[in-house]
Amino acid sequence: LVLAESELETVPREITGHRQVVASARRSGKNASRMILDASQHHAAMRRLPDGARRGRPDLVHLFLLTAMESRAAKRGQVRVAVHTRNDDWIEIDPTTRLIRNYVRFCGLIEKLFETGAVPAETPLLTRTAKRPLLPALDAMEADRLIWLDETAPRRRPAELFAKDDLDRHVVAVIGGFPHGQFQTGAPKTAERVSLWAETLPTWTVAAELTVHYGALGDDA
Ligand SMILES: C[S@@+](CC[C@H](N)C(=O)[O-])C[C@H]1O[C@@H](n2cnc3c(N)ncnc32)[C@H](O)[C@@H]1O
Repeated sequence: LVLAESELETVPREITGHRQVVASARRSGKNASRMILDASQHHAAMRRLPDGARRGRPDLVHLFLLTAMESRAAKRGQVRVAVHTRNDDWIEIDPTTRLIRNYVRFCGLIEKLFETGAVPAETPLLTRTAKRPLLPALDAMEADRLIWLDETAPRRRPAELFAKDDLDRHVVAVIGGFPHGQFQTGAPKTAERVSLWAETLPTWTVAAELTVHYGALGDDA
């Protein structure tokens, strides 16, 4: 599962001096430019940023990761997860990771990851590669099936999306990690563009649909 164009970044330089950002850095005892941008704390400062209304959503990434990594399919070892960000950072998470459930501590972990490139230092479970744009990264995955989740695409029933053969195939599904608007990148020509429902669903609900139905293939395997 790839969470694409997710709104995960450190506070951009343009707003590190904004009083709301300075105050939140002081409260948490952190350097402003190393903090994760969070719309719930930095909303006034973010009005100055391009795309300010959709940025700063580490909560979406956290909920997505918890949903995907704690699914039955993940516990059977059938799921790997990667997060691509608006700045083309590429984060891989070792499937054995027991992800932190507390949101504040999760943000602290991601801040450390942005600083050092790998956490925890002794045995890295999360690794970050900078400047890894989405399409070449997907290409390098050499998927047998590439599914691009998009509410504007042709409708498919979630329960009919996967066939038994998919258990032995490398299936990559791409979900948008942003709260509003559309992908900035167009889907590759080889992708199956799929809508699961007539309305927009949150990122983690889409991850839940995919992991439940993919996981069900393994029930009597
Ligand atoms: C919250 S949505 C993105 C914002 C949404 N386009 C909007 O304008 O409200 C997050 C992602 O979940 C996936 N998604 C949401 N609803 C979907 C649906 N009905 N079918 C398939 N994928 C969906 C897409 O990948 C989408 O980019």
